[in-house]
Amino acid sequence: MRILVTGGAGYIGSHTVRHLLANGHEVTVFDNLEYGHRQAVPAEALVVGNLRDIDHLDQLLVVNRIEAVIHFAALASVGESVTNPAKYYTNNLIYSLQLLDRCRRNGIQKFVFSSSCATYGEPTQVPIPEDAPQNPVNPYGHTKLAFERALADYAAAHPFGFCTLRYFNAAGAAADGSIGEDHTPETHLVPLAFRAAQGKIPHVTVFGTDYPTPDGTCVRDYVHVDDLATAHALALDKIAPGSKLAYNVGLGRGYSVREVIAAVEAVTGLKVPVKEGPRRAGDPPVLVASADKIRHELGWSAKYDSLRAILDTAWRWHQSHPNGFGE
Ligand SMILES: NC(=O)c1ccc[n+]([C@@H]2O[C@H](COP(=O)([O-])OP(=O)(O)OC[C@H]3O[C@@H](n4cnc5c(N)ncnc54)[C@H](O)[C@@H]3O)[C@@H](O)[C@H]2O)c1
Repeated sequence: MRILVTGGAGYIGSHTVRHLLANGHEVTVFDNLEYGHRQAVPAEALVVGNLRDIDHLDQLLVVNRIEAVIHFAALASVGESVTNPAKYYTNNLIYSLQLLDRCRRNGIQKFVFSSSCATYGEPTQVPIPEDAPQNPVNPYGHTKLAFERALADYAAAHPFGFCTLRYFNAAGAAADGSIGEDHTPETHLVPLAFRAAQGKIPHVTVFGTDYPTPDGTCVRDYVHVDDLATAHALALDKIAPGSKLAYNVGLGRGYSVREVIAAVEAVTGLKVPVKEGPRRAGDPPVLVASADKIRHELGWSAKYDSLRAILDTAWRWHQSHPNGFGE
């Protein structure tokens, strides 16, 4: 298939691009490189541009005869979305709606969207099934849910199908350590714990130690970035005109912040300096996916089915790239 991947130079996008190319697809990566990395994707696949420039995107859809779009491009810092909602509504919602409409006009029939467990807000049941209530508790989650709704309305009205993938916590790196997670600023626990172990940052902060969980810290479901990549390829195969698909992507198992830090110490043999801080607003105690639906309907399974296996690959990346893509 000829596939446009927005945000394809970012963390999850670049691993997915690699998987799609290895499986014989023709891939056009569209990224403004604000948070993505030129080195993370093959130069010949990369088009540098901003989602804002809808005519540029439109031209790519036509000239490259795009058949499917995977839409990763978004701003993804929950905290920033609270302090600067306009930035998030503009980038994540308005630009996405423009892209969706150009897809419709150009007859694109398959669309895969990067959504998030953040759309569930404070879950009423755990593990969380796809049909659980979606009540996001921050602007980032609101933008993701609003675009999910727009997709459903488009698929009802037009010969168009989509699949929303609600990722839980992406982690890990390519098995050969050649690409991995490098966000600036970094807000994710796993890379921060590795950087603290390597002495690149003074400590990792544990936000909240009094949650109603076994060790008092938040519990999250970590899924390997290459397993996310395979979920996208399976989703593309499954989408047909009129498809309105939504899947959680997680392992269905949770690890606490303290367990992740202990696992990073075990993998590296290094101490992770920790500072305890207050809870962050809008951080639910436990977010764990029910991953039954994607397993049954798409035949997806995780190659990396333990935290240890995920962290081993991340450690390879952090050792070989102590300054991320900057080195
Ligand atoms: N990392 C996670 O654990 C996680 C969890 C749930 C959902 N998600 C979603 O998955 C997607 C990818 O996440 P990621 O961790 O790879 O983030 P990332 O920041 O590494 O990748 C996003 C990419 O989009 C690009 N981008 C953003 N706005 C753009 C614009 N206006 N024009 C062109 N390019 C633009 C950035 O430069 C970046 O390369 C995002 O939509 C995010 O909301 C991520």
